[in-house]
Amino acid sequence: MRKDGQQAMGELWLRLIAEENENATEEQIGYWRQRPERAPLLLVVTCCHNSEKMGKVPLIEQKMSVGAACHNILNGALAIGYAAQWLTEWSCYHDKIKEQLDHAPDVKILGLIYIGIADEPSKERKRTSPEDVISEWPGQAMQ
Ligand SMILES: Cc1cc2nc3c(=O)[nH]c(=O)nc-3n(C[C@H](O)[C@H](O)[C@H](O)COP(=O)(O)O)c2cc1C
Repeated sequence: MRKDGQQAMGELWLRLIAEENENATEEQIGYWRQRPERAPLLLVVTCCHNSEKMGKVPLIEQKMSVGAACHNILNGALAIGYAAQWLTEWSCYHDKIKEQLDHAPDVKILGLIYIGIADEPSKERKRTSPEDVISEWPGQAMQ
């Protein structure tokens, strides 16, 4: 999506937020109306499970492959000097969004990837240290 698609998506998000959250404030509604327009390019990345062609490939592997594609898109965009961010928020899981984009009900939207030129450097945050999440299995004798 570029400008036109993003604007139409913002209108849809606005409508859904207003309809489904009776306490939504004007500020929140305005926020979602603008949100798809945060970057010049918005990619909607989907996983279309094709059981006929891909019957032997477990669905989890198909989804992971789409995730890997998303990651490559991020790296590719960053490598050529753009900023990119992968978000799901609520809209990736909302059936009305899929419907509006003409996707069949079994299609999964796995990511919205925003790509543009950064206004400012992204902020760092505290990271989990590798030692906390990586372990080595030293092997053990079979029982
Ligand atoms: C599949 C996926 C979904 C994400 N969805 C959201 C989201 O809905 N909202 C959000 O604030 N961040 C989300 N993120 C995280 C942002 O992309 C995050 O800002 C980005 O990964 C920056 O990485 P860092 O926080 O490790 O620096 C998501 C990341 C992934 C991989």
